[in-house]
Amino acid sequence: MLEVTEGAVLVTRRDAVAWITLNRPDALNAINIEIQARLPAAIREADADPAIRVLVIQGAGPRSFCAGADIKEFTAVDEPLARRQSRMRDHWIDALDQCQKPLIAAIHGFCLGGGLEIALACDIRVAAGDAQFAFPETGLGIIPAAGGTQRVVRMLGWAQALDLILTGRRFGAEEAKVLGLVTRVVAPDALQPAAEELALALAGKPPLALQFAKEAIRKGGELDYAAGRRLETDLLTHLLNTSDRLEAAQAFREKRPPRFSGR
Ligand code: CAA
Repeated sequence: MLEVTEGAVLVTRRDAVAWITLNRPDALNAINIEIQARLPAAIREADADPAIRVLVIQGAGPRSFCAGADIKEFTAVDEPLARRQSRMRDHWIDALDQCQKPLIAAIHGFCLGGGLEIALACDIRVAAGDAQFAFPETGLGIIPAAGGTQRVVRMLGWAQALDLILTGRRFGAEEAKVLGLVTRVVAPDALQPAAEELALALAGKPPLALQFAKEAIRKGGELDYAAGRRLETDLLTHLLNTSDRLEAAQAFREKRPPRFSGR
């Protein structure tokens, strides 16, 4: 994985963790065309690198994870149908859905619209106490369409999805935790250390087990119960003879920490 030290998406590596930073602090890290191109590329590259076990997405600057789509780039569209078709084929958010490794969102400040959609596409969301969330889209004459409507209804059910998206109301980190949109809230200056501690804990686990657990939950959640159980069983079967499963059991018997190889 190439480290990227300039531009709208930065990529750095610490240990087995790729830190992907939305880097337009003067625009509160709004998602412009450059971010739409570079974010998927950064995620795919980190996902393909065997030295990386976990990805963390964060926002640069003190004020914002991401304030959503770059509204200054909003213009009239000549051919809505052609635009819709091209968008349906390959959307920048797909890279997050397709990532096989654990994705952590470390959220501070504004997390709005497309920024909230990025966070929701991650596997685990850690929020700073100062984080503020909203779906402002309907106020702008649009709807959340980077998976927002679909993810929120699946995570929270119809009632909350309709309330949050129709009103576009702003809510804080504690409410986001009560709702179940984030699972961890920490003090603002503890955000980076908390995300790093979580990332390193996941990086120390057998990667195939994490990958398959993601698949069982994300894909299985879209299936009926019986089909989901079959998928779960299939995935477990693939894990039964992995070195890491055998190493975990051996280490337990020998009363020592396991050494996972990723195979
Ligand atoms: N797009 C472009 N620029 C943005 C932006 C955005 N979404 N959000 C903030 N900025 C820019 C501002 O224009 C400003 O830059 P300039 O000084 O050059 O004008 C800078 O960031 C700082 O912002 P403010 O001066 O507005 O800061 P504030 O503290 O007064 O307000 C805010 C902060 C409440 C987040 C306000 O900026 C705001 O409402 N931003 C828009 C949020 C929004 O509606 N996002 C959803 C977009 S739609 C979407 O996301 C859907 C999708 O993915 C397709």
